[in-house]
Amino acid sequence: MKNKLRIGLIGSKFMGRAHSNAWKKAGLFFDIPLQPVLQMVCARHENSLHEFAEQWGWQQTETDWKKVVSNPLVDVVDIALPQHLHYEVALAAAREGKHIFCEKPLAMNSRQAEEMLRVCEEHRVVHYLNHNYRRTPAISLARRMIDEGKIGRIFHWRCAYQQDWIVDPEFPLTWQLRAETAQAGPQWDLNSHAVDLAHYLVGPIATVSGLTAQFVAERPLADESSSGNLQADALGDAKGKVTVEDAALMLVQFENGAVGSFEATRFATGRKNALSFELYGSKGSLKFDLERMNELSFYSAEDPEGCQGFRTIQTTEASHPYAAHWWPPGHIIGYEHSFVHAAVDFVRAVDSGTAIEPNFASGVQILKVLEAGL
Ligand SMILES: NC(=O)c1ccc[n+]([C@@H]2O[C@H](COP(=O)([O-])OP(=O)(O)OC[C@H]3O[C@@H](n4cnc5c(N)ncnc54)[C@H](O)[C@@H]3O)[C@@H](O)[C@H]2O)c1
Repeated sequence: MKNKLRIGLIGSKFMGRAHSNAWKKAGLFFDIPLQPVLQMVCARHENSLHEFAEQWGWQQTETDWKKVVSNPLVDVVDIALPQHLHYEVALAAAREGKHIFCEKPLAMNSRQAEEMLRVCEEHRVVHYLNHNYRRTPAISLARRMIDEGKIGRIFHWRCAYQQDWIVDPEFPLTWQLRAETAQAGPQWDLNSHAVDLAHYLVGPIATVSGLTAQFVAERPLADESSSGNLQADALGDAKGKVTVEDAALMLVQFENGAVGSFEATRFATGRKNALSFELYGSKGSLKFDLERMNELSFYSAEDPEGCQGFRTIQTTEASHPYAAHWWPPGHIIGYEHSFVHAAVDFVRAVDSGTAIEPNFASGVQILKVLEAGL
């Protein structure tokens, strides 16, 4: 019988569901050294929390996060809260010696992130920052191909993260649209993922310039108790000010000399969760689009003349990262699988006492780029 790893999840809406699913599936599809146990879940609204716990199989519920963090039955604190709460919860968890699985963006600013990193190191806990897209088979494969030299020297990075969930000016003023709870708009929410991928695939960023825009200045106040999966109801007719940007663009130069662009918006009508990148090198190029997440496009300048062109790799072969644990070749996987892969790698890191990436150090570097861009 395996030793247990008891999880205390804080936050039970969009990410709460994605994480609950990941902890449940990790040991079913992967051979992991510890068995995750859904020990305790915490959120603000007691009634919906009980329903959530019953549905997903959480053993206990709690409405005060401090009681989760200090509970001796909890080994891992899983932070699925809006980012204004990450700092306080992570510091308290590390001081209790709990390992931390934290949603992105890591914090409100790099100063908070640096302190979170320092306290985790001081208390020797494993810290993980959930930029889950790294763990799609296609993006992991992209990294492997770059490491193998198939792309050569990288010249260009071009990334767009486009959504459209707030184009309607009547969409209410949820926590994601207020600076006191979100810090920034797509620059924090979407470009944090994009910068993580750029760091992972191209390398550290040296210089940044940026541009932001706001398209809707006021929105109806939101009923936060009903929000979840990027939907929310308005409280009534009263309106409040939107205090974050609606679109954020950056031009960057990497330390290795490559140049790049980033475009993040919640106003790309028709684009739901379109994270795409292209990278161009001396020996080849790669293209990825999250809305076709099982595919990676590859151009090799080393292909024989006359039959060169972008080919589509279906990343579902047993030789592709993570893929052997799911289905036979061609039987595709989805969004939620990247969270399962994160849970699997996190459990292995806790068991072996080794670091996992991205982590709070990665979060510090990402936030420094995002701050420079703003
Ligand atoms: N990795 C990804 O792809 C991804 C996707 C979406 C969101 N996120 C990140 O995950 C985090 C959570 O986002 P979400 O979309 O799940 O938000 P959400 O609004 O859907 O859920 C937030 C949860 O936090 C709980 N909460 C808020 N304040 C609380 C408090 N004081 N005490 C206890 N519980 C409290 C709410 O009750 C709710 O259950 C954010 O930092 C966001 O940026 C990551």
